[in-house]
Amino acid sequence: MLQVRDLCYKNILHDVSFSLQRGSFCVVAGANASGKTTLLRCIKGLYKHDGDVEMDEKCFLVFQDPDTQIIGSTVEKDLGFGIEDKSRIAQVASAFGLEGLMDRKPSTLSGGEKRRLAIADAIVSGARILLLDEIFSNLDYPSIRMVIKTLKDLRDDGVTIVLVTHEIEKVLALSDYLVILDHGRIAHQGRTEELFSLVDWEAHGIRAKGKLESMLWQ
Ligand SMILES: Nc1ncnc2c1ncn2[C@@H]1O[C@H](COP(=O)(O)OP(=O)(O)O)[C@@H](O)[C@H]1O
Ligand SMILES: [Mg+2]
Repeated sequence: MLQVRDLCYKNILHDVSFSLQRGSFCVVAGANASGKTTLLRCIKGLYKHDGDVEMDEKCFLVFQDPDTQIIGSTVEKDLGFGIEDKSRIAQVASAFGLEGLMDRKPSTLSGGEKRRLAIADAIVSGARILLLDEIFSNLDYPSIRMVIKTLKDLRDDGVTIVLVTHEIEKVLALSDYLVILDHGRIAHQGRTEELFSLVDWEAHGIRAKGKLESMLWQ
């Protein structure tokens, strides 16, 4: 469960409220500078904001640039960083296809591998609420497909996901809840399948061509 109530931050976010059940996959869509990154940072508690954020499970924010998050000198050390119980590392590494890369320096990983490592860090930490910031940026098509597969597995495992993006055509069909952010305010929110065809996407600066079912790169 994640509840955001009347969240305000400086003159960037205004009265943002939404509520997600455990296991929900929420896409927060918005043009550049609509406040997506700031919203995730407020939810994670990195910025001092007004309003309430409530959650009942551990939360992890995966930054837009994985290099700012990956700190271990090897993949294995990165996965184990700050983790007392190392018993789950091998299992998570294998679930994320990282088992053959454990001794590699993270700086030598491909973009897709780095992104999977960043999400694996979250899972090793025991987080069950993931905040994902523009997770497809700088990835090629095969890497995006790999990340999409990872997201599907997490969704099937009941992890709650808040994914912010301006590229909805890559992922929207996976979501059950949709929030549209425009100039720091929620312009629309609701169940994805109900809201999708009602929104004037162009007016919010978001490209949305085609049917909802086709909005998934796979
Ligand atoms: N630390 C900051 N101080 C002042 N303004 C900021 C700061 N961070 C972001 N902004 C502004 O807030 C708005 C929303 O930014 P951001 O949350 O990064 O949007 P998005 O992720 O949707 O592109 C932008 O106008 C941006 O310039
Ligand atoms: Mg951003």
